[in-house]
Amino acid sequence: MSEIAIRPLNPVIGGEIEGVDLSRPLTPETQKQIHEAWLDRQVIFFRDQDLTLEQHKAFGRQFAELHVHPNVPSHPEHREVLVIRADENSKGVAGQGWHTDVSCDRNPPSGSILRLTEVPASGGGDTLFASMYSAYDALSDHWQRFLSGLTAVHESAHVHGGYGVKKEDLRDGDYARAEHPVVRTHPETGRKALYVNSGFTVRIRGMKRNESRATLDFLFRHMEQPDFQCRFTWRPNSIAMWDNRCVQHLATWDYFPETRHGYRVTLCGDKPV
Ligand code: SIN
Repeated sequence: MSEIAIRPLNPVIGGEIEGVDLSRPLTPETQKQIHEAWLDRQVIFFRDQDLTLEQHKAFGRQFAELHVHPNVPSHPEHREVLVIRADENSKGVAGQGWHTDVSCDRNPPSGSILRLTEVPASGGGDTLFASMYSAYDALSDHWQRFLSGLTAVHESAHVHGGYGVKKEDLRDGDYARAEHPVVRTHPETGRKALYVNSGFTVRIRGMKRNESRATLDFLFRHMEQPDFQCRFTWRPNSIAMWDNRCVQHLATWDYFPETRHGYRVTLCGDKPV
């Protein structure tokens, strides 16, 4: 039986996986080990994975159906692949603020698998990941009770409008918008996680505007604490696979005008409850 090695980045979140070649179909045992490591560590990392886009998609499909972004144009030949790129012509980069991928979707993605092929020559371009289990667990009982049962509105026109997509090319003819519980229960682990993010979450239902703003601002500041985080330094052919149901992430852009390039495959998920 093949054994992979899992090296935690810290006790809270993150694990580097060794001893697996993702270009080949996984054995059921290895798939199970990776799946369990992903659920436990919330984000897992692999090095030296030289994959074609077909192999990248095939790796993702061993965990879930692949998600097609509702608003952002895909790779021209692979509708399930997003190109993640910044270079000397970029005015911004994808994911520069804390967010959960596509939380504006009615069924937001369960996971994302990002592989970088080119990293900035002078360093930089790390991705930060934060555990929303830890952010929830660190709240007092009072706050946990207050948030339970609340619903938040997640919108995307303000995030994705800048990509220049024509309205008729949007998946459902409009920018995605959804309402989700402020605290969700992870469908596989049963743990509770904070599920609001400063990228997409615009208000809490049933509150006055200033109450909603103050609550969200508190939660956005609370979840940014370094104690809930790990930070990943990329090399060419590194892969990060994160669980959007319990993790937020942020892409740093400290390398302008250098180039950072890669591809993201995203896994379909359930409606948060
Ligand atoms: C993303 O939000 O998927 C991009 C993350 C990154 O480029 O590090």
